[in-house]
Amino acid sequence: MIEVQELWKTFGEITAVGGISFHVDEGEIFGLLGPNGAGKTTTISVLCGLLNADSGTVRIAGLDIKKQNRQARKILGVIPQEIALYEELSGRDNLRFWGSLYGLSGRELRAAIDRVLDLVDLTERGDDPVREYSGGMKRRINLCAGLIHQPKIVLLDEPTLGIDPQARIKILDIVREEAARGKTIIYTTHYLEEAESLCDRIAIIDKGEIHAIGTLEELTRLVGEETLVTIRGDFTAAQVKPLLGRVNFDHLEEGCLRVKIADRGEIGGFLGRLFPAGINIDTVSIREPNLQSVFLKLTGRELRD
Ligand SMILES: Nc1ncnc2c1ncn2[C@@H]1O[C@H](COP(=O)(O)OP(=O)(O)O)[C@@H](O)[C@H]1O
Ligand SMILES: [Mg+2]
Repeated sequence: MIEVQELWKTFGEITAVGGISFHVDEGEIFGLLGPNGAGKTTTISVLCGLLNADSGTVRIAGLDIKKQNRQARKILGVIPQEIALYEELSGRDNLRFWGSLYGLSGRELRAAIDRVLDLVDLTERGDDPVREYSGGMKRRINLCAGLIHQPKIVLLDEPTLGIDPQARIKILDIVREEAARGKTIIYTTHYLEEAESLCDRIAIIDKGEIHAIGTLEELTRLVGEETLVTIRGDFTAAQVKPLLGRVNFDHLEEGCLRVKIADRGEIGGFLGRLFPAGINIDTVSIREPNLQSVFLKLTGRELRD
């Protein structure tokens, strides 16, 4: 559905996007995860034809974004990072403006506005001026503006920036619903847990480069992350060591044993050897591999929410 090949974009000395390639399948939620300045907005701007790349190609449903821009933009919905709303106008009037830009008018436009307002649960507030909206409501109307012409492909650029957790959950639910209706979605974020919970596949982007692409499972496997099990109790290293068998232990000292396992099924096995031997165990904690550790390994940097 979306094909991006060797995309480059520089601003003077700055390489905002340095040769990225990826594809997005129909119906997929594809995440671009990276910190501020990673190149996410630049990528989205090139993808929708708002910005010209220095080199590389973008195909949207087979259409070349440069040469067939008009056709491509009809099937694209863009939700920009910066909210583009007129504060003095009502939500409904803002949507009238965006809808008419997409060539909608009359009854068709009114129906489209009703549909998107309902989609984001703002039917009741549609006639109030945008300046009276909360941050989360503005984000929702912003979303409507990109969905009003029922695009097949939706590009969302950090749609939850600066809003409270509850408003965030609401937006994520709307994105999931749109995906369930068969839309193809690119979702940029710097929030790890959004990428984890929302995206079918994730591209990790930093300093204009994509470091890895895959499902959450593939990414964690890619960097060889294993589940870590930490066992604490009243024991010595010498008591425990002979009981470990073939378990891959990471750390062992008095009162603390940490082992790496490939799957959770292994836990029962070695606990089953420790208990009968009278080893005193207080706590067992399990740390699953997550995007946090993947990001750190791939980029050498922490990505914190
Ligand atoms: N119009 C511009 N002029 C100059 N530099 C820009 C411009 N747009 C983006 N940049 C730079 O390109 C890099 C990538 O920015 P951006 O794509 O906005 O990243 P992100 O959206 O991931 O935060 C940053 O270093 C940013 O300062
Ligand atoms: Mg951005």
